[in-house]
Amino acid sequence: MIRFSTAFHGVALVLLLFLASPTRSCTEQESNSLLQFLAGLSQDGGLNMSWRNGTDCCTWKGISCSTDRTVTDVFLASRNLQGIISPFLGNLMGLLRLNLSYNSLFGELPMELVSSRSIIILDVSFNRLNKDLQDLPSLSSAQPLKVLNISSNLFTGHFPSTTWETMKSLSVLNISNNSFMGQIPSVLCASMPSLTMLDLSYNQFSGNIPPGLGNCSVITHLNAGNNNLTGALPDILFNVSMLEHLSLPNNQLEGSLSGISKFTNLVTLDLGSNRFKGNIPDSIGEMKKLGEIHLDHNMMSGELPSTLSNCRELITMDLKNNNFSGELSKVNFSNLPNLKTLDLVWNNFSGTIPESIYACSNLVALRLSANRLQGQLSESIGNLKSLSFLSLVENSLTNITTTFQILKRCRNLTTLLIGLNFMHEAMPEDDRIDGFENLQVLAINDCSLSGKIPLWLSKLKNLEMLFLYNNQLTGSTPNWISNLNYLFYIDISNNSLTGEIPTALMDMPMLKTNMVAPKVFELPIYTTQSLQYRMPNAFPKVMNLGNNNFTGLIPKEIGQLKALLSLNLSFNKLSGQISQSICNLTNLQVLDLSSNNLNGTIPDALNDLHFLSRFNVSNNDLEGSFQLQASLARFQTPALKAIENCVVSCL
Ligand SMILES: *[C@@H]1O[C@H](CO)[C@@H](O)[C@H](O)[C@H]1NC(C)=O
Ligand SMILES: *[C@@H]1O[C@H](CO)[C@@H](O)[C@H](O)[C@H]1NC(C)=O
Ligand SMILES: *[C@@H]1O[C@H](CO)[C@@H](O)[C@H](O)[C@H]1NC(C)=O
Ligand SMILES: *[C@@H]1O[C@H](CO)[C@@H](O)[C@H](O)[C@H]1NC(C)=O
Ligand SMILES: *[C@@H]1O[C@H](CO)[C@@H](O)[C@H](O)[C@H]1NC(C)=O
Ligand SMILES: *[C@@H]1O[C@H](CO)[C@@H](O)[C@H](O)[C@H]1NC(C)=O
Ligand SMILES: *[C@@H]1O[C@H](CO)[C@@H](O)[C@H](O)[C@H]1NC(C)=O
Ligand SMILES: *[C@@H]1O[C@H](CO)[C@@H](O)[C@H](O)[C@H]1NC(C)=O
Ligand SMILES: *[C@@H]1O[C@H](CO)[C@@H](O)[C@H](O)[C@H]1NC(C)=O
Ligand SMILES: *[C@@H]1O[C@H](CO)[C@@H](O)[C@H](O)[C@H]1NC(C)=O
Ligand SMILES: *[C@@H]1O[C@H](CO)[C@@H](O)[C@H](O)[C@H]1NC(C)=O
Ligand SMILES: *[C@@H]1O[C@H](CO)[C@@H](O)[C@H](O)[C@H]1NC(C)=O
Repeated sequence: MIRFSTAFHGVALVLLLFLASPTRSCTEQESNSLLQFLAGLSQDGGLNMSWRNGTDCCTWKGISCSTDRTVTDVFLASRNLQGIISPFLGNLMGLLRLNLSYNSLFGELPMELVSSRSIIILDVSFNRLNKDLQDLPSLSSAQPLKVLNISSNLFTGHFPSTTWETMKSLSVLNISNNSFMGQIPSVLCASMPSLTMLDLSYNQFSGNIPPGLGNCSVITHLNAGNNNLTGALPDILFNVSMLEHLSLPNNQLEGSLSGISKFTNLVTLDLGSNRFKGNIPDSIGEMKKLGEIHLDHNMMSGELPSTLSNCRELITMDLKNNNFSGELSKVNFSNLPNLKTLDLVWNNFSGTIPESIYACSNLVALRLSANRLQGQLSESIGNLKSLSFLSLVENSLTNITTTFQILKRCRNLTTLLIGLNFMHEAMPEDDRIDGFENLQVLAINDCSLSGKIPLWLSKLKNLEMLFLYNNQLTGSTPNWISNLNYLFYIDISNNSLTGEIPTALMDMPMLKTNMVAPKVFELPIYTTQSLQYRMPNAFPKVMNLGNNNFTGLIPKEIGQLKALLSLNLSFNKLSGQISQSICNLTNLQVLDLSSNNLNGTIPDALNDLHFLSRFNVSNNDLEGSFQLQASLARFQTPALKAIENCVVSCL
């Protein structure tokens, strides 16, 4: 047997050499097909340098051949190609892989390629293909195509359905990020039994999820988010037990999730921004592999089932913006050791924050804002050494002094939002408060706190944004504030601060230059339910001292704060003239000096601040006619919205 096999191999080798040796070059038909493709390009990214008629096309840029000089691969991704895709590529009889992604090809996708008898991988994603995809007549023989990626193009119209009838081998179909419309063809899986990954997201599909998808017996990834799908999840879909990633966010799906636990292999579940109702079923505990669950922005209600703690692999739990209620202590979070993100903002949870949350030692982001939680933070939150983002805004928590004493042990905190709690307590002035050296964003707004701007803030050397508005703080603004080298957003409005505006405030390094602090929030910060910010530097540079009792002159050094986008000094007792230097703030979009005791004339040069779109000097003793108000630009930049909305609340 062994001898025979060796002999057989020998013969095969000789045969191979014999067959291979006479062909030193690809066939003329193949090079002609490629040259036809080249001819269809208006910009070839320099391909013509090597694609020369008369030379072996196996040596051309982007072309690979088998040992018998048959073209097997055309790899021309990211080559700056412009033009159409020539159907002649379909004449390459041995072509296995065609990758034309990341170019600027337009026109149609030749069906000769989709129905090729050889191609197994076809990737034309990230182009500008824009003609309707043609429906192929049912073909007799099966196609070998396994991977088809036509995502991120400009395809429109209905998605063909008969084309797929002979695609017995198709395993991956990605048509995301186009403008396909109409119903999702119900035959998809009936005709493509091998489909493991289907991505239909970012299109305009409408109607129900077809029950036919229940035939996708080996599918692991199903993605149809960001469409216009309606109706309930069809029961039969739950039979697709191989499913690992189900992603259907941003549709108008409805109904309950009572059958969801049949997906026992599910790792990712994203049903955010739909219209699902009802509670999370107890059976969720059977989804032992669940790592990510997004049910945010739905209309779900009820208590969290205690069985959630059986989903021990959970890393991300996002239930924000629903109507969940009851006590969080129903869930034993200490069974979820991998949890990194827990986002429950905008619900109706009550009671205290359960101790078991503090056992999730890998927690990086915790947001419990806008609920009805009460009581004091527990000492054990200090165990969360990785905690970087903590938002507890708008609850009924108490004892702010203890809160800071405790939180100082969370050394990795960068964002701390705790406003709308601790009503009428005193600002902690304890000098032993330290340890917040990584803090970048601190919001203690809307607490009616008494006391002064505390000295320990001067130790927060990395602070970028400080929100202390809507309290009852008294005293003056400390000089050390200019030592906070990264601070670019200061809102201390609506307090009872007195004294002159310190010149130190005119020395804030970040407000004097256009430097930005590049930093990403662990969770996007919400200013309204629809406006969110991923990066602090998406926020504008702002100084808001309005609604206090500041007296004296506007420091002439104000002109140094060249990077300021919004300056609000309104409703104070400032007197004297408006310093000419204010006209140097050429980035200003908002200037409000109203309701002070300013006198003299309004500097003419203010007319040159073309970016001003909000300007108010009313209710002063100013003289002179002023044209600016009439010429105010009407545009509203996102930055302006950020200023206005965060004053409502940053969550
Ligand atoms: C390739 O095309 C460019 C522009 O179309 C042309 O200038 C250049 O001469 C061509 N090079 C060769 C080798 O044909
Ligand atoms: C390449 O050259 C051959 C003969 O030299 C010719 O028949 C053929 O038309 C040429 N192909 C193209 C695309 O110019
Ligand atoms: C095609 O090429 C791009 C760019 O190199 C790559 O990211 C992509 O994975 C390739 N497609 C396939 C199906 O391998
Ligand atoms: C197209 O999809 C295939 C299969 O998912 C993938 O391997 C390939 O990387 C994708 N292409 C690009 C450019 O992302
Ligand atoms: C589909 O392609 C897009 C790019 O167009 C990519 O972002 C996405 O991850 C792909 N889907 C799957 C399931 O690989
Ligand atoms: C959609 O395609 C456009 C254009 O190619 C691209 O810029 C964008 O990132 C894609 N979006 C997604 C979600 O893949
Ligand atoms: C989505 O569907 C609704 C009603 O079914 C329709 O009013 C709306 O225009 C559709 N939106 C898009 C983007 O197609
Ligand atoms: C704290 O943050 C730093 C920087 O992001 C990170 O490298 C480190 O691992 C974090 N520490 C813990 C305990 O997570
Ligand atoms: C705050 O908590 C500390 C420690 O638990 C306690 O000693 C103090 O009395 C509390 N203060 C108030 C106002 O409840
Ligand atoms: C400013 O001080 C006056 C008394 O001088 C007081 O009546 C007023 O309430 C104070 N305003 C603010 C905003 O604190
Ligand atoms: C304002 O700019 C003028 C010239 O443009 C300059 O002379 C003056 O010193 C500047 N004032 C301040 C306070 O920056
Ligand atoms: C402005 O008011 C101050 C007192 O606050 C006064 O000394 C000065 O003369 C006034 N100037 C003008 C131009 O009215």
